[in-house]
Amino acid sequence: MHADYGGVVPELASRDHIRRVLPLTRELLATSGTTLNDLTAIAYTQGPGLAGALLVGASIAHGLAYALDIPAIGIHHLEGHLLSPLLASPAPAFPFVALLVSGGHTQLMQVADVGAYVLLGETVDDAAGEAFDKTAQLLGLGYPGGPKIAALAELGTPGRVKLPRPMLGSGNLNFSFSGLKTAVLTAVRGKTLSDADKADLAAEFQAAAVDVLVAKSLAALEETSLNQLVVAGGVGANRLLRERLTTQATQQGCHVFYPPLDLCTDNGAMIALAGALRLTSGVRDASGTLRLSSRFNTRSSSHAFTVRPRWDLEELRPA
Ligand code: KG4
Ligand code: ZN
Repeated sequence: MHADYGGVVPELASRDHIRRVLPLTRELLATSGTTLNDLTAIAYTQGPGLAGALLVGASIAHGLAYALDIPAIGIHHLEGHLLSPLLASPAPAFPFVALLVSGGHTQLMQVADVGAYVLLGETVDDAAGEAFDKTAQLLGLGYPGGPKIAALAELGTPGRVKLPRPMLGSGNLNFSFSGLKTAVLTAVRGKTLSDADKADLAAEFQAAAVDVLVAKSLAALEETSLNQLVVAGGVGANRLLRERLTTQATQQGCHVFYPPLDLCTDNGAMIALAGALRLTSGVRDASGTLRLSSRFNTRSSSHAFTVRPRWDLEELRPA
């Protein structure tokens, strides 16, 4: 639906959400053998993101929660990504460093606990995924670009064309990806590229992006003296990034954790997990059953709601 436009069209997205959300909910309940009455709470994405799309999820979540007399829990989209490696096995233990690499964000975070996030560094311009998407567009590969660049890169050789590694030696944990995209633009402008040229460019672009992401992630581990790195967000599905991070972090005596591949890109399970962790605060009673955190004990809580199109992860507090 969005491919013709080279990116997500907000109005098309929210209208499509409205059409899909109830059939999808019914299908999900049916395939998981769950009924609405089995639910303890409903977690939904409260932000950041496109207001129209967020409003669809928030109103359905609060409408259902009101009808079922259970809490609705607004979750930060990136918190969902950040905690998704907890669904992997083995799972990391707090504290850890998280590399969040999605279409909208590129951040290194120090994570002490659920809701305790300190920003170590972030992109000063484009996100890594955005650079993959824009480069794919320049090479005529379509959207979303990440998987397409990665596939084409397999056929090419990095280094035949030279692209910069922006901010590699900046001495801090920030990133920049817009210069990399501009360098690709310069390399393709006014030229007719063969398929082999395009593959070489894709391979070099991927190598450049991965070089920077790996170097800064390792530097973050060193700076924080932590030895666990968690990688989350759509770009975390990139095979080269995974291989390089795992190899180099291991040499440094560190462990890298990834969410299962299908939970790297946007998904509902990571939002449900974050909701569950916030709902319970991880507190168990004597029988080992997770207890509801006091914030959610009162039933019939207000179902007035807002969405947060712009929302800093650092503003979050522990559950
Ligand atoms: O986290 P995500 O699903 O959505 C948000 O942005 O929140 O991330 C989507 C981004 C897109 O930019 C897409 O091109 C990128 O993740 N992506 C990849 C790969 N798979 C998805 N980038 C590089 N390599 C991949 N294999
Ligand atoms: Zn995402």
